[in-house]
Amino acid sequence: MTDKPSSTGPGRVGQVKEITSLSNPVIKDIRALSMKKHRDETGSFLAEGLKLVIDAIDQGWNIRTLIYAKAQRGKPQVEKIAALTVARGGLVLEVSEKVLTAITRRDNPQAVIAVFEQKLTPLDAVAPKPDETWIALDRVRDPGNLGTIIRTADAAGASGVILIGDTVDPFSTETVRATMGSIFAMPLLRASEAEFLTWSKKTAPLVVGSHLKGSVDYRTIAYKGRPVVLLMGNEQAGLPDTLAQSCGKLARIPQTGRADSLNLAIATGVMLFEARRHLLSLEADA
Ligand code: SAM
Ligand code: CO
Repeated sequence: MTDKPSSTGPGRVGQVKEITSLSNPVIKDIRALSMKKHRDETGSFLAEGLKLVIDAIDQGWNIRTLIYAKAQRGKPQVEKIAALTVARGGLVLEVSEKVLTAITRRDNPQAVIAVFEQKLTPLDAVAPKPDETWIALDRVRDPGNLGTIIRTADAAGASGVILIGDTVDPFSTETVRATMGSIFAMPLLRASEAEFLTWSKKTAPLVVGSHLKGSVDYRTIAYKGRPVVLLMGNEQAGLPDTLAQSCGKLARIPQTGRADSLNLAIATGVMLFEARRHLLSLEADA
């Protein structure tokens, strides 16, 4: 099949490619982003949905490729991001439904998707300030949990999410989907356990570990006016002693009923909204 340059609309000086073939090498590269290896190699990832793509660009994320369904041609918002993508040296692809379905591996794909450059904040650049809440996740394994936590962190006004040790990839499509756009709003940081321990010693926030054997009720901790790091344990193993020992407090959420523990994302949400309770109000909702 042919991949011919499209000639209609603004900003289409040959940079917009029409693609209908799944064997097109550009499409193969984009489809390969479903694999971590290829995301790592290219330092890029996929985000889906017009609103998300617009928000990401507004927040300064670098777009590499804009991909949209043929039916989107001529829509003002799409034309605008297409022109912007071209202006920034990116690629714009107008594709068939079949191609969109193949890229997203979904039956009803979003009509607009994009490839963005990955972005991580270096841990050394961060020193938690009073009333800031940072979340640190020990070896989080589940992409849905991580995405939900990033979304919740954004909603609660946390300052960023620190990924400790061998974690799931925050830029996997499943995680990005679960963040509902918050991936673009929340600073993400990566650290080994040793790096995290060195950093928390140096910057000295109140580290609140959440632990099933914690002796402190999470509601009794004085979070107000302090820099806080909420440290959450791995889904299966919980916090290792090495991390637990570094905590200023080991907190527990009281439970009743049959469940041994809460889901990691739920426990994070419960702790986070308590830690930031004094900072959140309906009036302050901007
Ligand atoms: N089997 C694991 C254990 O023994 O720790 C359960 C881990 S739980 C599914 C995942 C994480 O969520 C825990 O490491 C902890 O950080 C947090 N969590 C879950 N329920 C909690 C509770 N009731 N109190 C405090 N933290 C909790
Ligand atoms: Co390959």
